[in-house]
Amino acid sequence: IPTQIFADSKEASNAVAKEIADLIRQKQKEGKKCVLGLATGSSPKTVYAILVRMHKEEGLSFKNVISFNLDEYYQMEPESIYSYHRFMKEQLFDHVDIAKENYFVPDGTVPPALLRDYCTSYENKINAVGGLDFQLLGIGGNGHIGFNEPGSLINSRTRLITLDHSTRVAAGMEFGGLHNVPRKAITLGVAPILNARRIVLLAWGERKASVIRGAVEGPVTELNPASYLQAHPDVSFVVDESAASELT
Ligand code: F6R
Repeated sequence: IPTQIFADSKEASNAVAKEIADLIRQKQKEGKKCVLGLATGSSPKTVYAILVRMHKEEGLSFKNVISFNLDEYYQMEPESIYSYHRFMKEQLFDHVDIAKENYFVPDGTVPPALLRDYCTSYENKINAVGGLDFQLLGIGGNGHIGFNEPGSLINSRTRLITLDHSTRVAAGMEFGGLHNVPRKAITLGVAPILNARRIVLLAWGERKASVIRGAVEGPVTELNPASYLQAHPDVSFVVDESAASELT
């Protein structure tokens, strides 16, 4: 997996934001929609902040952007302070000119009986607009991408998943305690992630060093779902020096 190592996450985020902005502008010139797959969590926050600045100061427009987020906790009200829906509005959508009907975050309120159909329709919506031009990813300390936890298969589809204990522990701080963290989430599957034409995975800090090494240099294994990205024709890992520290 091609790995770009930057001195720090700020520099790295600048490069990624520039790639996304260039893609949006190029599609604009061609008169086409730009379909983005987006992630939440701490890793992409600076990328979103830079895109917001580019919108405000450089006139970068999101009018041709359609976006699909990777995941949402279940059950979760979109207006909750803990929801990924809310996160995306606060970090990006409320500060740029993307149309409300053009961004999608999995709905954490779908009744259990309707979930299967809902997940299929979420993928169908991506396909109906031509598939993902670009997928932004973070990585869990356990190798999850989206919330495809270890054990997820390479051909897994969008579905309800049970979160790993380690994933819930990592989220515990934000939720004010482990007991407040939902046990489940809706996640885009590994297969639809791998369908994106371009994938960029972000990882910052020593906490991610060993899982990055496994994904880049280790075998392709369901024990580290990020290792499935080895099979993708146009993927980059964008990491800081600490996250790269275990690469040989
Ligand atoms: C979030 C997501 C997760 C995170 C991962 C890393 O939408 O899909 O895979 O990217 O848990 O989270 P951070 O960036 O907070 O370390």
